[in-house]
Amino acid sequence: MKKAFSLLLGTILLAGACCPKAATTRAIPQDKEIERKIDSVMKKLTLVEKIGQMGQINADMLLLPGSTEFSPFAEVVLRKYKVGSILNTLHGTASTPEVYREFIGKIQKISLEETGIPCLYGLDQIHGASYTTGATLFPQELALAASFNDDLAYEMGRICAYETRACNVPWVFTPTLDLSRNQCWPRMWESYGEDPYVQARMGVQQTLGLQGPDPNHIDAEHVAVSIKHFMAYGASISGQDRTPAMVSKRELKEKYFVPFKACIEAGALTLMVNSSSNDGEMLHASKELLTGWAKESTGWDGMIVTDWADIRNLWERDHVAADYKDALRLAINAGVDMIMEPYDCKAFDLLRELVEEGKVPESRIDDACRRVLRVKFRLGLFDDPYGLKGDYSRFACEEFRQTAYQAALESEVLLKNEDNILPLSKDTRILLVGPNADVMRPLGGGWNYSWQGDAANDPQFTGQYNTIREALEQKFAKVTYVPVLEYDPAGDFQAEKKGNMAKALAASVACDVIVACIGENSYCETVGNINDLTLSRNQIEMVQTLAKTGKPVVLVLGEGRPRIVREIEPLAKAVVDVILPGNYGGDALAALLCGEENFSAKLPFTYPKYTNRLNTYDYKLSENRTTMGGLYNYDATIEAQWSFGQGLSYTTFEYSNMKADKTEFKAGDVINLSVDVTNTGKRAGKEPVLLFSSDLTASVTPEARRLRDFTKIELQAGETKTVSFSLKAEDLAFVGHDLEWTLEPGEFRLAIGNQSLMLNCVE
Ligand code: BGC
Repeated sequence: MKKAFSLLLGTILLAGACCPKAATTRAIPQDKEIERKIDSVMKKLTLVEKIGQMGQINADMLLLPGSTEFSPFAEVVLRKYKVGSILNTLHGTASTPEVYREFIGKIQKISLEETGIPCLYGLDQIHGASYTTGATLFPQELALAASFNDDLAYEMGRICAYETRACNVPWVFTPTLDLSRNQCWPRMWESYGEDPYVQARMGVQQTLGLQGPDPNHIDAEHVAVSIKHFMAYGASISGQDRTPAMVSKRELKEKYFVPFKACIEAGALTLMVNSSSNDGEMLHASKELLTGWAKESTGWDGMIVTDWADIRNLWERDHVAADYKDALRLAINAGVDMIMEPYDCKAFDLLRELVEEGKVPESRIDDACRRVLRVKFRLGLFDDPYGLKGDYSRFACEEFRQTAYQAALESEVLLKNEDNILPLSKDTRILLVGPNADVMRPLGGGWNYSWQGDAANDPQFTGQYNTIREALEQKFAKVTYVPVLEYDPAGDFQAEKKGNMAKALAASVACDVIVACIGENSYCETVGNINDLTLSRNQIEMVQTLAKTGKPVVLVLGEGRPRIVREIEPLAKAVVDVILPGNYGGDALAALLCGEENFSAKLPFTYPKYTNRLNTYDYKLSENRTTMGGLYNYDATIEAQWSFGQGLSYTTFEYSNMKADKTEFKAGDVINLSVDVTNTGKRAGKEPVLLFSSDLTASVTPEARRLRDFTKIELQAGETKTVSFSLKAEDLAFVGHDLEWTLEPGEFRLAIGNQSLMLNCVE
């Protein structure tokens, strides 16, 4: 048994108990002037007004149906209950900046009349300002993760912030930091994939891009983030949305907490809670996790908001409270600061009663209210509630659009290219088929002009962008599109309608290659639940039928999660997974397929081959072992369709000469590593370089490998670059059974590409 020594990693060392120690330093140093201003506002507030600051109501409740006129209920919300926050787009679809400005202006006027405190308006601006008409939309997070280029996450944040603030909206519910550990989960595409390190790196850059350099003083071009959903939401056992997870505290700390902690330390101002439960514990009722881990262990003075109606859910859905009032008691005492109760104001009366009855201490209300006010001051809302100080003339400018296009180029993953069938010469005669070929909706995914993304097929939102068909037609001389199979707009996202296969078969005679654009239509949250991860039977049969023509098939997968394609992958010469690349996804694909641009993405998740083998790349060694001798074979195999980190290019890269500056290390050391990467092909290309570690023996069963760092480089044909990584010894630590970060002496293998070396950890 190896002897372990514990590490003080940041501030989350656990003292042999389940609760992290309180931090001695603050995640964001406070601005004394802001704190003084909060004090002076707080002194004037009544209990009703403080509770009002903790409230958040859905925008549509303030409006008459189909109109931008205020409903009578708006008066109740803003004047009687003095609710301090409103969320959502109007009437379910994206609005222009002008409409938001007018609507929010009216809210601000009443809020300022009532309390002198501006309203904090929040929007789900995911992958760009996705609820704003005309804004610049990027690939969804899962696709962006495939770029392994965190500069692009920063840029997505920066541009999203600018275009959101152009609407006078100062707050966005992004980035999503859920580790997507079950590929069936319908929200997989909203996050940066299955790995905590990728999630943390990309999430931190997106946070910095959104909030700007100083979280205490956010300027008129930046917004506050809400990192979400704290935590283990993506580890749903069933794979259905908003269903329980079963992650140990040990693993929560080692993996799930990591991106949240990293973003809190990078200045994230607010956090949204996981709607569901973990190990029978509702996150919304967990004082240990909300107050202990999120706030105290990091010294974080930010604000915690619930997810949609989730205090009510403690009672009605999950039955940990006997009634609504008790649910409120649990959540507010656990550390919730803002109640996203979209439809009514009952919660605010009940919370007042709870304070009067002594069941929620007034000090908790004061703390929550201060946290809400702090966000408003940090955003400068008191100085500029109408958003008049910024210059938004660069809204959707060419620079922004080029950046989104670049992000799409770097996000589309080439998974197979037999006989180098790709790139296709521009005179290739293409037969184009499949439900994703000539619609915008599957390029964007959910949170895309509407919650379910269905509004993306409306030309008022996407008329200026190219579908895959339109984009291919601009690059290739002869594209014949036959709608053999289409999504049926009359049904749900899985509904399909069959077209004319005979026509496609006839057209195949005069084609050189069949490009089949398959995958999923857009969906979001629970609506996207599925019973079977396998690609739809119609789509499988379509590919099988067309493959019988003998013409080479290129599969283009467009999907929010890896739908199983085992039956048709062998029929294809090439496979590209565009994931959800956004409005420029069709253009990027066309430029990549014709070879004007080169592929440079790698999978940020494990692409499963079988529905009952949903693994992640950091599996335990016993999950994948060869036959053992004797009569009884304890074998097990990991058999993915494509592995985490897999992705091809039109050029080839060779790794050589991996070196470390030491052969032994101890806690506190930095290990400097380098490797040479050479472009051995005939054209320039970008390559994500990934550093993995494997702990050979550990008291907690070690994973096969863990990603520890990455960078993306560009190499001309024939060029060699030396890539260096500085790895801290504690980056190799794990959380032990005692819930402490631990580094055990023994051997570690570090690997980059096909290179590896062994290092010995000593005491
Ligand atoms: C989702 C959140 C979202 C919120 C507000 C919820 O249903 O789970 O991700 O931010 O609604 O729209």
